[in-house]
Amino acid sequence: QTVALIAGTVGKDGYRHYMEKELHEHPVVIGQTLQRIIDPVTRAINLPEFPFDVADVPRAIVTACGSAFYAGLVARYWLEAEARLPVDIDVASELRYRDPPLVPGGLALMISQSGETADTLAALRALRQRGQHIVSILNVEASTMGRESDVVLGMVAGPEISVASTKAFTAQLSVLAVLTIAIGQARKTITEKRAGDMLAALLDLPSRAAEVFSRLSDIQSMAASVAEARDVLYLGRGVCFPVALEGALKLKEISYIHAEAYAAGEMKHGPISLIDRDVPIVVIAPSTILFDKTLSNIQEAKARGGRIMAFTDEKGAQRLSGIAEHMVILPDVDPFVAPILYTIPVQILAYEVALRRGTDVDQPRNLAKSVTVE
Ligand code: G6P
Repeated sequence: QTVALIAGTVGKDGYRHYMEKELHEHPVVIGQTLQRIIDPVTRAINLPEFPFDVADVPRAIVTACGSAFYAGLVARYWLEAEARLPVDIDVASELRYRDPPLVPGGLALMISQSGETADTLAALRALRQRGQHIVSILNVEASTMGRESDVVLGMVAGPEISVASTKAFTAQLSVLAVLTIAIGQARKTITEKRAGDMLAALLDLPSRAAEVFSRLSDIQSMAASVAEARDVLYLGRGVCFPVALEGALKLKEISYIHAEAYAAGEMKHGPISLIDRDVPIVVIAPSTILFDKTLSNIQEAKARGGRIMAFTDEKGAQRLSGIAEHMVILPDVDPFVAPILYTIPVQILAYEVALRRGTDVDQPRNLAKSVTVE
């Protein structure tokens, strides 16, 4: 299949860095991951069999590290809003020692590209001991976590060589989106019509993701501004808040620029005091029901001299013209899948900034691809 040819090769295929190659693999990886779990003809969800009934789980507990944790944060919004399932989430290194009260029979969702991250593995073992059903979302299925899970949901991302995770993140989100729909259907919180719309939006994503690359020159102009900064703020609301977190993490990891992400509504409770002409503010703002709220946060930042860099869509761009210094206008998508689409240009921005700073993109200092110590 194409993933073996495109996402499964380990050379750079003419790209300057593995990261650049892996960013270009987003559309195919999303497509292949979905193809494995959605029947392309009937559009029926085709997940592996669960040895328990997802309709009966009292709650979910989600854990992971790094970018995978941010994928988990998106899943919390989805599972709560769409499947009406209560979700607890924490980074694995904290969750393990937090000793939260757990009802046996809960759903533990573990997310990991490598399946070997020591903190996530330790959390998996602790959760298993506490009677949770272990469902792991993994890229490397033949891994320690794979062997110790009740169910493995594979991403079809191919090998990810660049230390900073890129395509594994959108693959994780693709699996989590389908899992949300399946759980929502089992719990009867998602109607057939809504499930059909959500699946259609997902299946449309590879094409929309491919379109992101036609916005490269706009991302590059934004990157030229961001590359000169010492500090950068990222803002987003709802499902786009974890995308802001992912953008800030990626920028820190590979360009060594200090970046912080805030839920846009929290800006007024602290980080607003940092804002001046020297701090670019990267906003993840698709025109969803939260757009007006985000816009008012943007205006507060602008009024204090903030330089706004916005990722938005056509409708959002009309409202942001004259406010944003740089805009990247993305294709319209169902708000449900917006965090998957918006992650791509946000990761490309970090890559383009790192290029301008001349850092070692694929092997950033002090970082390891898979952290097997606690
Ligand atoms: C390391 C990598 C990150 C990754 C994290 C979790 O810190 O540098 O890019 O997100 O580990 O890795 P995992 O394999 O568990 O997804």
